[in-house]
Amino acid sequence: MLVAALLTLAAALAPAAAGGAAGTLIEARQASMKEMAAAAKAIVEMFDGKRAYDAPGFKAAAKTLSARTGPALIAEFPAGTLGAPSGAKPEIDQARPEFEALARHIGRLAEALAAKAENAPPAINRDMRMGAMLPMDGGSLLGKRPGAAQADPAGMPAEHLLHLILQDCSSCHSKFRQKVE
Ligand code: HEC
Repeated sequence: MLVAALLTLAAALAPAAAGGAAGTLIEARQASMKEMAAAAKAIVEMFDGKRAYDAPGFKAAAKTLSARTGPALIAEFPAGTLGAPSGAKPEIDQARPEFEALARHIGRLAEALAAKAENAPPAINRDMRMGAMLPMDGGSLLGKRPGAAQADPAGMPAEHLLHLILQDCSSCHSKFRQKVE
């Protein structure tokens, strides 16, 4: 499954053996990606009940995701560091607008998650769960503007944000990441 596949990435990949300044940048961004994977894994496991939920841990992991996406992620992929031995496809250079849009999209989601985690309750509550987007108080889905909840990450439950974040990891990897020996 999506989540399982993502979370095994970190273990499956060997570090690229590139020299010089490009090599340093490549290693730094791979380390950064691994930290994101560990953070995402921590949150997934808390929500799945596989790891004890703790609000400070949730907060720290969400902060990691937010700090490493958006402009920070874009800055990690300058020209001259793409292609083998890195796992970054050379095509990133020809598709900058798309790559950067993905980085910013996940950045906005991670920022919203981090903002929620900032005030995280001592235990996971119903408002944090996927279903919390459905009207619980007699409101009607039909009465809402279509896509209104989608448009504003701040209005989404934490668990939903998490799933959208993982989808963005996968979208970018399937498009811009390559296997290297
Ligand atoms: C906008 C594109 C993009 C997004 C979003 C993205 N990644 Fe990546 N990721 C890459 C690219 C490109 C590489 C290959 C980097 C390299 O080898 O130089 C990579 C590599 C990785 C690696 C392997 C690192 C290594 O040791 O070689 C892991 C693990 C990873 N990403 C996890 C994640 C997780 C988890 C998320 C979401 C929270 C995520 N990535 C979001 C583009 C992205």
